[in-house]
Amino acid sequence: MSVTVHDLDLPEVDVVDLDRQRALGALQEVQRQHWLARTPMGYAVTRHEDATAILRERRFHSGLSMLGELSGLPESDFLSRRRESILAMEGEPHSRLRRLVASAFTPRAADRLRPFIREVINGLVDDVAPRGRCDVVSDICEPYPIPIICELLGAPKEDWKLFSRWATDIFRIFNNDLAHDLPMIEAASAELDSYVAAMIEQRRTSPADDLLSALIAAEEAGDRLTSDELVMMAEAVLMAGTDTTRNQLACSVALLVERPDQWRLLSERPELAPRAVEETMRYLGAVRGTLRFASEDIEYRGVVFPKGTLVSVALAAANRDPGVFADPDRLDITRESKAPQMTFGSGVHYCLGASLARAELQEALPVLASRLPDARFDGAVEWKPDTFGIWGPSRLPVAFG
Ligand code: HEM
Repeated sequence: MSVTVHDLDLPEVDVVDLDRQRALGALQEVQRQHWLARTPMGYAVTRHEDATAILRERRFHSGLSMLGELSGLPESDFLSRRRESILAMEGEPHSRLRRLVASAFTPRAADRLRPFIREVINGLVDDVAPRGRCDVVSDICEPYPIPIICELLGAPKEDWKLFSRWATDIFRIFNNDLAHDLPMIEAASAELDSYVAAMIEQRRTSPADDLLSALIAAEEAGDRLTSDELVMMAEAVLMAGTDTTRNQLACSVALLVERPDQWRLLSERPELAPRAVEETMRYLGAVRGTLRFASEDIEYRGVVFPKGTLVSVALAAANRDPGVFADPDRLDITRESKAPQMTFGSGVHYCLGASLARAELQEALPVLASRLPDARFDGAVEWKPDTFGIWGPSRLPVAFG
């Protein structure tokens, strides 16, 4: 006999006004009590197994398509276009798109960018190394992903600044103040659209060795991406691939600088970089959760989630699940774990850029650890507001050498 989720006696959790540490504590508390918790908006899953299962259940759809409704804003072009984004698409149209673009996002495709990625990180460190101190956020993390995404797409160096501004404005969508930010977001998005549309026209006649050309050429059983889809993919890559990487790098550096033994270990054993990336993403992910809603009545673990039910997938809590990660509140870059950390999500929307993000972090962390020896905090670390969807330090002053 199944019951509906609304009739269950569940622990309750409300993290809205809590800072990150307390929010995580509250989620860990309900994680101990039950696999499911009630929230003011709906429900939350906090354990690794259930977070994975909900994300793999295709009938739970991305909450991104509900951003407009949740913010109480009237319909706009921009919000309806968000719905067509790969991040918010579902079912066969989403699978078709993933099939078409998959070959451009393999680990091998990301590995081809590694020499360029190393150049970028070393160039940024060259600028700060002689000073003996820097703000890791503004000097390293903020500029880091833009040249890489531009190189990936095939945009020339003189346009990096444009991309940086568009990325900053478009990311305002995650800052929970759409009523105020929407005009800026729409303007940046329109400029980016026309820039990319022009680039596509140019690549159609003279292909180059870049992502846009690869996506133009991508074909499966006679099917190809339309020009609108190509523009959307370029925008999705910029949106999903820039601020995430910046914030994750800053989170990872903050954790390692706070633990000098781990910083030193990474500088002595750079081969630990892949594990250091997974472990720091597990311990402190720049994306702490994601939202799903039931597109129809769905039964899971004998519980019916009626159509429309909202479920928060607490990635940060799943990453500290003691049933999966031994001693989960300890950071250890030598940790070997069979279960994946959850900060890239799971299921059909699993981060398309995970290989590239891994390459960026795996290249940056050992370079920083070896070239900024004995790094230590040089003033208070400041953090972005806890309401931010993509989150990390806003200021990370370190001295070194
Ligand atoms: C450390 C950096 C990154 C983190 C933490 C991250 C995290 C995520 C997460 C959690 C999702 C799934 C969201 C959901 O299920 O609701 C996602 C999706 C996505 N990511 Fe990333 N990401 C990162 C870097 C990147 C990069 C570098 C790119 C592009 C080159 C990228 C492109 C995408 C795209 C296109 C999607 C949508 C996939 C789909 O809906 O099918 N991400 N990312």
